[in-house]
Order: sequence, then structure tokens, then C-alpha cells
Amino acid sequence: MCGIVGYIGSKPAVDILLEGLTNLEYRGYDSAGIAVEVDNKVELYKAEGKLQNLKDIVNKNYTHIAKSTIGIGHIRWATHGVPNTVNAHPHSCNCGRVAVVHNGIIENYKELKAKLEKQGCTFRSQTDTETVAHLVASEYAKCGDLTEAVRLATKQIEGAYALCVIHQDVKDTIVATRRNAPLLVGIGEKEYYVASDVPAIIQYTKKAMYLDDNQIVTLTPDSMKLIDIENNSLEQKIEHLPWEPIALSKMGYKHFMLKEIHEQPDVVRNVLSGKLRAIDEPVCLKEVTLDREKLKKLNRIQIVACGTSLHAALVGKYIIEDFCGIAVDVEPSSEYIYRRTITDENTLVIGVSQSGETADTITAVRLAKKKGSHILIVTNRPDSTMAREADSLVPVNAGIEVSVAATKSYMAQLISFYLLAIYMAEVKESIAKEKLEELKHELIILPQKIEKVLSHKENIQACAKKFSGSKDFVFIARGINYPTALEGALKLKEISYINATGYPAGELKHGPIAMLDESMPVLSILMSGKVYEKILSNSEEAKARNARMIALTDSTDPKLNELFDSTIRVPEICELLSPALAVVPLQLLAYYIAEFLGKDVDQPRNLAKSVTVE
Ligand code: AGP
Repeated sequence: MCGIVGYIGSKPAVDILLEGLTNLEYRGYDSAGIAVEVDNKVELYKAEGKLQNLKDIVNKNYTHIAKSTIGIGHIRWATHGVPNTVNAHPHSCNCGRVAVVHNGIIENYKELKAKLEKQGCTFRSQTDTETVAHLVASEYAKCGDLTEAVRLATKQIEGAYALCVIHQDVKDTIVATRRNAPLLVGIGEKEYYVASDVPAIIQYTKKAMYLDDNQIVTLTPDSMKLIDIENNSLEQKIEHLPWEPIALSKMGYKHFMLKEIHEQPDVVRNVLSGKLRAIDEPVCLKEVTLDREKLKKLNRIQIVACGTSLHAALVGKYIIEDFCGIAVDVEPSSEYIYRRTITDENTLVIGVSQSGETADTITAVRLAKKKGSHILIVTNRPDSTMAREADSLVPVNAGIEVSVAATKSYMAQLISFYLLAIYMAEVKESIAKEKLEELKHELIILPQKIEKVLSHKENIQACAKKFSGSKDFVFIARGINYPTALEGALKLKEISYINATGYPAGELKHGPIAMLDESMPVLSILMSGKVYEKILSNSEEAKARNARMIALTDSTDPKLNELFDSTIRVPEICELLSPALAVVPLQLLAYYIAEFLGKDVDQPRNLAKSVTVE
């Protein structure tokens, strides 16, 4: 969602803030701003739209602004108030001495605003954040201490926040705090960085301290003090960040999305590494701490996730049910909460999230945790808020994913689900050894098959060109590839803005078939297996309504050429593993269509990489 950066030290703060914001741009980007202290005054620079607009403003005053060695910056994904310069962060108080950047939502901002207006505060923006600036200014006026002012302010705030605050009267000091929104401090030599995510600071330091909820940190160029909201001093836990700055480079690819699609063979190898050592050895998943006897007795699993992670969860349901005979429910996290959710200590609840910061999923797993369920988190960010809620933490090791459209993290989640299902089946002895060995073998050779798809992209590019003018798209599949249809449609919607829907192929005739005519492309995911013939029949039904037919298949049956206008072929693969191969051409199809249409592939409009509000 929004991105926060702060710097205090001896270098020009503006360079670090703008560089950091550039690396956070994927989190949200309808406006941006910075606050710096120059000549003993807090100055704000803000701009609507892309970060470049802010950079243009800053460049005009660069020599002046570069004198500052302290500053805070923000890129905004609007929640309260339209994206414009006034609503862009940083926000300030009446006298302009305080500057605040914020990620999250202040839920009681209306009540706070009414109270502050009565005290004489004049609000300029429509944001919830501006209340924090006035509140801190008002508390500072009473106590004369910035850390204390922030502490007293946060005691009055309800909701989620990561905040960074500077005050003109308190030289060389940044105060930062969080509740239900990520924030970390990077530690350098007589300098500190603050950021809502690692990419903003990884090029400067690998030493960091993650803030926990309700902790407040006070930074000067040569000191860091940590307290909790009750004013108790806390021990500082310094960590080594396991990321490399190279992860933030496109490595010659035009977009991060294309680079990340191409990283998938290695992602599969990474996820399997150390866990699947040989086909005749059991899968080693030390991360699952659920007692083996309890695991054997489990009779229910619930999986909560959003978006692409939800689609990975749907594949997970299919394989866990198939291998382990345990009933699995999959629900969008946002639907799991705010109703009477039936879960208990005999239910395993799995939360799946690339970022580990998705507010809906965090709320869902916290709810299940309160009811006594064992919480297993599958995430690409072992350093995230969600990871901290885990009883069992299964990191997916896809590396930093920059493109808003998730690709390699989906692949990593799928492979993690295969490992988890095999692990559970081995503990429960619920499936024949030969079947598991066949799947393990297929998993080991999967990277080569993906490489084959990636080295023959011409057909997919041609198909993308042919169908890029379509206004709507339908993806159909059955069984284990129904989630692949959903994911293919989501990728296309996200980056090309074409209306695309994934349907279970058998459902087409129950309504959606009414939409079909010669203008509608229907992409059938026809992977060999139980439902192949059924999908073929459903594709015939669509063809009979004049739809433009595309096949995605591992079959070499020449008859397909009569039925389909275009065919995308992938190497043969066993049905159970086919979602991990079939999704790759769909990612590429979406990518090339968006490319032909000239869309902003890595930063699609209205979207944010991690959605930290409910
Ligand atoms: C994926 O392409 C999307 N950007 C989005 O649906 C995403 O998967 C969703 O917001 C969940 O994010 P998470 O995996 O970080 O929880």
C-alpha cells in the first residue's frame, strides 16, 4: 500500500528519500511527497501522480533541499480523500512545524478531527492522516517532548498505522511507531533509515530492527531509543536482512514482471531445495511444528488468502484432499472475518500471503488463533507481520517480488502446497508410496519443463497480438486447473484492464454461455487427465456459439486444430502437477497483451502490491 521512508545522518536526505520511494513505488503510487529540515525550517514538497512529478519539483530546488540531512518521504495509495497534492503526505499542523507520513487507516479520525477543530486546528486535506499531525502538535505544545507527544497521540488513535514524525523545534530527530502496519529501522554508521519495506533501504544497510506493534523509536544521527506505548524501555533486537540489492534490478528485462516470470524455474528449485532430496526419501518440512499425532487426527483444514494467493490455496485444497483425505475449506480472508466462523483447536488454519502484510488475512488468522487453531503461514516474507502470528512458518523463498502482478510467488506457493500435501500424506500414510514417488519425480523435472515454455514464447506472443483487441475474455477449466483459469483471468485483468473471467467449464452452460459470440475469446485449459474429454465437450459448446477458441494444452492431438483458432502447447505433465506448468503461458499471455496495449505492466493503475487495509 503506501510506502514510507525516513533518513537521519550526514548525507543529503533527499537523495535517500527519493531512491527509497522509487524502490517502494510498487506499493502504491497516486501521489508522493517529502519533508526535510532546511535552515531550521520544515519544508514540504508534494506532487500528484507518478513519483517523477515529485522528482521534477525537487530538481528545481535541488541545491537548497540537498542541504538537509534529515527527512521523511511517502508514496500514497489513496484511502481517505482523492489523490491530489493537498491530500499527499507529509501532512502538517497549523503552524507547519510538524510533518507526518502515515501508512494505514485512522479509524476514529472523525472524532479526533472534531475535537481538534474545537481547539482551533484548521484542516486542509480530506485525509485521516492530518489528524495525527495536529494531534502530535497539540500534545507537543503541552509536554515539549516529541517522543512523548507521539506516544500520547498514539494512545488516542484507533486503527492501523506506521508513522514517521519530525518537528521543527526538535533538531535532528525522527520519531517512528507502528500498529498493524509494517515498519523497520535500518542501521548505518552514525545514520538511520526508516522504511515500510526492505527495498527502500537494502542498498544502504543490511542491519535492521523491525518494530513491533505499539513500539516507538526515537532516532538521532548517533542514537536509537526504543520504548513501548506505556513508556517502558525496550531491548533492541537487531537483525541481518537476508536480501540482496540485485533483487531490485530488472537484469536486462523490460519489466520486473517478465524477469520474475523467467525466474520461476529457479524458484521451483529453491523451494524444493533441502526439502525434497530424493524421490524415495520423505519430504522434510521441519517448519511444520504441529505434533505428528495431532496431524494424523486432523479432520479439517481452513485456508484463508486473497487474490493470487487465494488461487494457490484452491490448488492446495485439491491436492491436500486428494492425498490426505482431509476436508479443506478455502475462503477469501475478507469473507472469513466478521461472521460466526466455525473453527477450533482441532482445525488447522493456513494463511497464505506473498507479502505477509495483507490486512484481511492477518485479521483472519488472528481470529482463528484466538479460537485455538494451529496457525500455519505460507509466505514469501518471513520478516512480515503475518509470519509473527505463525505457529508453523513455511517460507516460500521466491525472493523479492517487485511487480504488482504476482507470478513467481504464486509458483512458490504452489510448490509449497505440493510439499505440504506430500509431507502430510507421508505422516498419515494416506496414499500409496508409488503415487507420491511419481509426483516427487515430476516436481524435480518441473523446472526444465517451465524452461521449455519460456524458450518458446513466439506462439504466445502471436496469440497475444491476435487477441489484444478483445474487450472481454473467458477462461475455462475443470478440476485442479479451475484455479489456473481464475489466475489467468486475474493476471489479464490486473495489467491489461480487459474484463476477464475464469469459469469452471461445466458451469458455462448454466449462464455465462449467453455472453458468447464471435467477439468473445474463450481460452480452454485442456491438460491431460480425468476431465480432459469433459472440457473438450464444453469447448465444443462454446465453439458452437461462434466464440473464438484458444487451447492451452499438453496434448498433441491433431483434432484440436479443427476446434481451436489458436493453440498454446506445453510439455506433457501429470495432471496433479499441471497447474504449476499451465499458469506460465497464461502469465506470459497477460504480459504480452498488456505490452501490446502499452499498459504500465509493473505498476497497474489502482493497484498496490501489499494491501495493508481491510
Ligand atoms: C496478485 O497479482 C495481486 N496483486 C493480488 O491479488 C495479491 O495476490 C493479493 O493482494 C494478496 O496479496 P498477498 O499474497 O501479499 O497477501
